[in-house]
Amino acid sequence: MCSDTISYKVPVVTVDGPSGSGKGTVSQRLAAELGWHFLDSGALYRLLACAARRDGIALDDEPALVALADRINAEFGFSENGDERVLLDGVDVTRTLRSEETGNAASQVAALPAVRTALLAWQRRYRRPPGLIADGRDMGTVVFPDAAVKIFLEARPEERALRRYNQLKDNGIDASLEEVIEEVRARDERDRTRTAAPLVAAEDACIVDSSDLDVAATVAIILGQIRAKI
Ligand code: DC
Repeated sequence: MCSDTISYKVPVVTVDGPSGSGKGTVSQRLAAELGWHFLDSGALYRLLACAARRDGIALDDEPALVALADRINAEFGFSENGDERVLLDGVDVTRTLRSEETGNAASQVAALPAVRTALLAWQRRYRRPPGLIADGRDMGTVVFPDAAVKIFLEARPEERALRRYNQLKDNGIDASLEEVIEEVRARDERDRTRTAAPLVAAEDACIVDSSDLDVAATVAIILGQIRAKI
């Protein structure tokens, strides 16, 4: 009860949107700028998909995935050179986690209602003082409906596919642009049309189109919204 009272007061800014809208980079910059915590909710779905593959669990086996979500142990941190480092039950899965294949598998497990419910408490535990930037698809609609500021970050599909492609290349991951365009399109379709928490802007969200904005300009616009409200 006490922790509920505390978490209610901790401000949350939600940044939802489709893949490649830039919300990951923008959210991390916002968190750094404000000195707040950061939740990459997509990484939790990705970790669950990785663990399912490891344990031979089918991506549509809802009860087994729910049980798996309960027992996996994740650690988010940084390597010595400052790169992201994610451990799943003690094993470094950073590279696998960020692949397109894992993104697609995550999108499949994320379509299952009981899996989404199983990840709710895990996500809400990130709400700690002095504040939280929550990046995902349903942060403003389902996970933190009482967020102080809700942003829905959009960008044209072809621009998002290009960003995704460049990001994969930067991470040393092989992909063709055509494949990435097709995967972005398929993932968008699945995330927007699923019945459980579909990707949709919250009614009270501010929609920001980042197609023609760089990261710094996008961050500046959102910081302006946050400072006007918090
Ligand atoms: O943001 P991402 O690419 O890491 O997310 C991977 C998949 O996880 C995405 O296709 C949809 C799903 N996801 C979700 O359904 N809800 C979230 N809050 C975050 C991600």
